[in-house]
Amino acid sequence: MKLCCMGAGYVGGPTMAMIAYKCPDIQVTVVDVNEEKIAAWNSDELPVYEPGLFEIVKDVRGVNLFFSTDVEGAVAEADMVFVCVGTPTKKKGVGAGQAADLQYVEAAARVIARVSKTPKIVVEKSTIPVRTAEAIGTILKANSGVGKFQVLSNPEFLAEGTAIRDLLEPDRVLIGGERSREGDVAVERLASIYARWVPREKIITTNLWSSELSKLVANAFLAQRVSSINAVSALCEVTGADVDEVARAIGMDSRIGPKFLRASVGFGGSCFQKDILNLSYLCEHFGLPMVARYWQSVVHMNDWQKNRFRHKIVREMFNTVAGKRVAVLGFAFKKDTNDTRESPAIDVCRGLLEEGAVVAVYDPKVSREVIVRELDGVGGERDLSLEVCGSAIEAVQGAHAIAILTEWDEFRGLPYEEFYKVMLKPPFLFDGRNLLDHERLVKIGFRVYPIGKPPLILEQSAN
Ligand code: NAD
Ligand code: UGA
Repeated sequence: MKLCCMGAGYVGGPTMAMIAYKCPDIQVTVVDVNEEKIAAWNSDELPVYEPGLFEIVKDVRGVNLFFSTDVEGAVAEADMVFVCVGTPTKKKGVGAGQAADLQYVEAAARVIARVSKTPKIVVEKSTIPVRTAEAIGTILKANSGVGKFQVLSNPEFLAEGTAIRDLLEPDRVLIGGERSREGDVAVERLASIYARWVPREKIITTNLWSSELSKLVANAFLAQRVSSINAVSALCEVTGADVDEVARAIGMDSRIGPKFLRASVGFGGSCFQKDILNLSYLCEHFGLPMVARYWQSVVHMNDWQKNRFRHKIVREMFNTVAGKRVAVLGFAFKKDTNDTRESPAIDVCRGLLEEGAVVAVYDPKVSREVIVRELDGVGGERDLSLEVCGSAIEAVQGAHAIAILTEWDEFRGLPYEEFYKVMLKPPFLFDGRNLLDHERLVKIGFRVYPIGKPPLILEQSAN
């Protein structure tokens, strides 16, 4: 069997690497219109950082996994084509700022229709609005002489930073298909690929629309939990409650569960916000404005939390950060990824630069180019007010404050005693991830501001 995946991004690359790894008899070709990305996939510097990914790619690349820019050739040869292209929020036109931009999905469908000379199963892996399979099916049938396509929905639930683990041991694999004999056959062909390593009871099948909608709803529920605990974090700060203690207490209720209750500076990533906005746009479209507003409030709460964090930095640093150096540790939207899309660090750094602070950023995996691109032009004389550092000690040198914005494990073990010595006094530490040992830091002399807990300040640290 030959598979082709259109889109060599955060989903296409790792997902296809796993299929190739688990199914040596299947030939998998991942194609992309971006030549640089394909060159990177064929090199030792993969464009995606994921723990364990490189080892798997190295094992199967050139054996039964191939990365290529020959989109048409690979699609033409394939029995099954996965569509893994981006579905960002529309920037202009009808639905701007809310609806999913489906131009890449449509372009992919048109390529498949144009070059297919044999019947194919087309698998939507991109996250799309419900009923997109209908549009893809219509484009395929209207433009192809063959006319034998089955469109399946197979949304991806992996999270960045844990992609390999999530792919190896998924909670479930969801496949939606047309309820017909041909549809059932196509669903079974795809299911039998996953069944090589995923227990059958975890492979669930539904109709197309349930599958498409489930993906949006899963992300909306996850994001809603983060916004809920972040809303609670604000209440904890003014009441003396501790958000971690509250999360533990409620999480032990098996109906609530312990996961996704970590209060933070806000959620980021390319999908939560985009998918909720998309879901709420769909609700508006189908005449359900109340439902749309309900989901939008999850995004509003997240925006509020990000703003609240940067306002706190300014307020606590005697109402001005102008000319003050703030060391920002972490720029990725979560640990173990080099992805910065919608990272809360972008909003916080932009806010600080606008206030006139000198922002010194260190992230273990995000490149200088990406950080500069995200913050381009914000600080006026950008070259002076933004500094991208190669280490944490470089960032904190001469700083007034440290802000922890990503929960990288290495930040726990940093020499904060040394940092104290090279920082201006009193040194502030804003822990946007509740990552560090706050008791220890306050003893060193930091004024510590966690999320969802009262600040920790010893008298002498004020001098
Ligand atoms: P990405 O931007 O990393 O990758 C998409 C790739 O598609 C790009 O490299 C782009 O050049 C390529 N592309 C666009 N048009 C193409 C075409 N016609 N032919 C070939 N390649 C083309 O995006 P991503 O993060 O991998 O997300 C892809 C989809 O998966 C989105 O719908 C997203 O919502 C969904 N998703 C993402 C994640 C995640 O963790 N990032 C998880 C689950 C689902
Ligand atoms: C999320 C979902 O978890 C995946 O199932 C889904 O496939 C993916 O979106 C997608 O559709 O793209 P991802 O965004 O990669 O995955 O990472 P998450 O672990 O969900 O974290 C998202 C954001 O929420 C991060 O900024 C993270 O720091 C934040 N978060 C998460 C919290 O602030 N607190 C938590 O308790 C959990």
